Amino acid sequence: MSKLLDIKNLHVEVEGNKILKGLSLSMNRGEIHAIMGPNGSGKSTLANTLMGHPSYIVTEGEIFFNGQNILELAPDERAALGMFLAFQYPHEIPGVTLFNFLRTAVNSIRKKRTGEDIDKDRKKAASSMLQFSKKLTANMKLLGIDDSFSKRYVNEGFSGGEKKRAEVLQLAMLEPELAVLDETDSGLDIDALRIVSDGVNSIIKPGQSILLITHYQRLLDYIKPHFVHVLVDGRLVMSDGPELALKLEEKGYDWVRDQFFTQNLN
Ligand SMILES: Nc1ncnc2c1ncn2[C@@H]1O[C@H](COP(=O)(O)OP(=O)(O)OP(=O)(O)O)[C@@H](O)[C@H]1O
Ligand SMILES: [Mg+2]
Repeated sequence: MSKLLDIKNLHVEVEGNKILKGLSLSMNRGEIHAIMGPNGSGKSTLANTLMGHPSYIVTEGEIFFNGQNILELAPDERAALGMFLAFQYPHEIPGVTLFNFLRTAVNSIRKKRTGEDIDKDRKKAASSMLQFSKKLTANMKLLGIDDSFSKRYVNEGFSGGEKKRAEVLQLAMLEPELAVLDETDSGLDIDALRIVSDGVNSIIKPGQSILLITHYQRLLDYIKPHFVHVLVDGRLVMSDGPELALKLEEKGYDWVRDQFFTQNLN
């Protein structure tokens, strides 16, 4: 069976600058991988490239999702295949309530996946709306998000931590096969970190996979990765089990650079 995600020798440019310089990574279904690395090393570039952001130009390499080369696919087509990105800096969408945003996203992904346009059948639309509302209420409760948020415009006036919770709410509603979480822990207070992490753990079903970008070992105490990778200057320079995150905290990125340099001299 093919890998869930297979990134081969990925080179990416942004605004004419080479950011990713030959990154390879594979993930199986049901695995959690963490990516750590210094500021500016290319972590968000990887996340944005995976989702097909038009500013990120792939100059070499390939990305396969469930065996399918996705490089030519638009972001919504990637989402329909089961990919999801929680942004490091979530965008505001003035004039669109969180409820309508999530409902539209869920319906459009369903339509792309199954070809079924729920809104064309009144009975089906009513029952799916009811199901959706129930699921939304349950997930908001799980993530400690107040009911009133569903009527507010997406991310407008949300605090940093509230935006991050809203991203995880999207994850809960869309049920992707692969969730890329870009610093979902940043800006969360210690209680919120626990609530959101517990939420992610209970949302994720066997077979779903997470690519977790973080600066902090602390998150990995809650959401336990199978593998930790270190991204430095556009390349994965070290990969190991979860203990690598502890080592990084203790030794810092210079240690990783030294190890990589020594290995590549020999
Ligand atoms: N849209 C863009 N326009 C110009 N430069 C960009 C853009 N996106 C990324 N870059 C540049 O690419 C490099 C890598 O950025 P990226 O956001 O991927 O880093 P990161 O590893 O996510 O860092 P952080 O830990 O601070 O989030 C940086 O030097 C950044 O300025
Ligand atoms: Mg980033």
